[in-house]
Amino acid sequence: MTNNKIPIRIAGLGYSVPKTVVTNDDLTKLYETSDEWIYTRTGIKERRIVSGNEDAIDLGYKAAQNAMKKSGLKPEDIDCVIAASSAPPQLYPALACHIQARLGIPDFVPSFDLTAACTGLIYSLQVARGLIGAGLYKNILIVASDNNSRLLDWTDRGTSILFGDGAGAMVVEPAQDGIDDVLALDIRADGVIGQYIYMNMPGKNCPLVEQAEIEQNPKIHMAGRDVYKFVVSTLPQYVDKCIEDAGKIPEDIDYLIPHQANQRIIEALQQRLNYSDDKVISNIKYYGNTSAASIPIALVEGVEQGKIKLGCTAILCGFGAGMTWGTAVVRLREGIC
Ligand code: UT7
Repeated sequence: MTNNKIPIRIAGLGYSVPKTVVTNDDLTKLYETSDEWIYTRTGIKERRIVSGNEDAIDLGYKAAQNAMKKSGLKPEDIDCVIAASSAPPQLYPALACHIQARLGIPDFVPSFDLTAACTGLIYSLQVARGLIGAGLYKNILIVASDNNSRLLDWTDRGTSILFGDGAGAMVVEPAQDGIDDVLALDIRADGVIGQYIYMNMPGKNCPLVEQAEIEQNPKIHMAGRDVYKFVVSTLPQYVDKCIEDAGKIPEDIDYLIPHQANQRIIEALQQRLNYSDDKVISNIKYYGNTSAASIPIALVEGVEQGKIKLGCTAILCGFGAGMTWGTAVVRLREGIC
């Protein structure tokens, strides 16, 4: 879907991360590993994780407040909330309902979660685009917030080194000037390889029937090497195609803002596009993989640090459990974060 009946404007962006920092050296207290091993394989030095009662709702709320402020919209202007979350504190009420209540978004606006793991922000943007494009809603708040640290097995050194917690948010609305900020967007999934990253739900059958074999302390399972191979062999061609669908060539795009999962994957995409380092946004060193939040955190922090000059175009690309993946060429106007 490249052309929308009603063009959309990305009106505001925000993020929030927990204060607590856990370094690679800290992880050596949990299992046999080293800063050198983790940094060489992933590009990660440290990650932020929630402490005490802080959770993905708190992080999402703060990110949403920041995005709302930049958009100039008030809670009463929002008419739909979508939360991209695969690691929420509760399965229901949806994280989106918590955000709606906390922000004081009135008039019983629809609020729902969307599970597309680390591709959640791009999936949500496509859904928001469809809803606005069809004329059903006007001002949509997207919140991408994941609290992976509570779902990890902290004895599994192959998986727990990779993730951190964080949230990002985006406000989208119809573009009054008729200029669509989404030049092209493509979302994909392949459930056949769903076992590459999964998390079971606990539970027991009714005591009157035969019991199922269900993991009672569920945790994130990841076949890291399979994910790595799949992503580097599949994603680059979708990046190429999305740029082509936008009517552009790689040189026309100012920045590559990829999902922050592994520095080596980011570099594979960089090489494919033949981009110099200043065109590629990476902050995985300080946050690890924050799932759906990683793209908006990298984007907004990139602007704060002067790595991204707004009034530009960027290609966003993400991948994650499902397996899901997605790409989007977007216009980033001045003042959105
Ligand atoms: O948004 C989610 C997307 N997920 C991803 O993008 C994951 C992509 N994959 C990766 O980033 C990498 O596969 C990892 C960083 C997770 C793992 O790196 P790897 O090079 O694929 O390592 P491996 O799992 O194949 O393990 C290689 C060796 C093993 O030892 P043996 O069997 O060869 O003796 C592991 O036991 O490294 C060992 N190992 C470790 N050693 C020190 C695994 N984890 C660690 C560790 N510290 N933390």
